Amino acid sequence: MQQTMESVRFDHVYKAFVARGRGSEPVLALQDVTFTAAPGEFVSLVGPSGCGKSTCLNLIAGLDGPSEGTVAHQGSAVRGVNTSVGYITQDDNLLPWRSLRGNVELSLELQGVARRERRTRAQEFIDLVGLAGFEDHYPHELSGGMRKRAGIIRTLVYDSSVVLMDEPFGPLDAQTRVILQAELLRLWERSRPTVLFVTHDLVEAIALSDRILVFTGTPGTIKREYRVELPRPRDPFRIHETPGFGELHDALWADIRVEIEQARTVS
Ligand SMILES: Nc1ncnc2c1ncn2[C@@H]1O[C@H](COP(=O)(O)OP(=O)(O)OP(=O)(O)O)[C@@H](O)[C@H]1O
Ligand SMILES: [Mg+2]
Repeated sequence: MQQTMESVRFDHVYKAFVARGRGSEPVLALQDVTFTAAPGEFVSLVGPSGCGKSTCLNLIAGLDGPSEGTVAHQGSAVRGVNTSVGYITQDDNLLPWRSLRGNVELSLELQGVARRERRTRAQEFIDLVGLAGFEDHYPHELSGGMRKRAGIIRTLVYDSSVVLMDEPFGPLDAQTRVILQAELLRLWERSRPTVLFVTHDLVEAIALSDRILVFTGTPGTIKREYRVELPRPRDPFRIHETPGFGELHDALWADIRVEIEQARTVS
């Protein structure tokens, strides 16, 4: 039997949706998507809007199933909701009635981790991202950047081997984004989960990833794969100065640009 070492494997995955208001004509969102992510690998998914990036993450999280093909997590096909992956969605989804500490402890609580250990683990992560002193603040009392930090550590504290992140820094200002990228890299280096990271920001994808998957416009399929050979540890503040950055950025942009232009002429 073939040994499966991958954390995540997509094998000829197709995903069709029946769109409301278009009769019963199904819309093909993903077409023949095949890729793997190794344990501890940081993989980014980039591509034009609507190419199926979020759909890929939902399939790994088991929130939906493929129409054809297989999506596997640690060697087994995903069937039903996959609670062993951490999922950071675009909205931070903090519970407004829970304090920062209460939000960070939530997944540990659901796991049945004892109170004292919960406290210690949550505090370690709160300290790591500079949120000490805000433990008792409620989400509406935190800045946008603080809420993103809280959402991220809430998922990482749980120590899952696969973490899905869907444009986690989307609406933030440029400076806060880079600060959070640096923090994310620091947190990732500690336990090295496999990360599947969706972004529209090519500089961010280069700064963070081991590999970047470029998707075509709808129906999304993988157009090209780039290995990011820039040395680690990386400094997102100075990533532009790293040798090899410029060539990689140009190549990625040339690839994506064609897809965006085609998506525009189609719609
Ligand atoms: N539940 C659903 N029902 C019907 N169509 C859907 C559903 N989810 C996604 N789609 C369609 O599938 C395609 C891919 O959507 P998806 O959200 O995965 O794109 P995306 O790459 O994440 O886009 P963006 O960059 O804008 O977030 C789109 O055409 C979208 O309209
Ligand atoms: Mg999306």
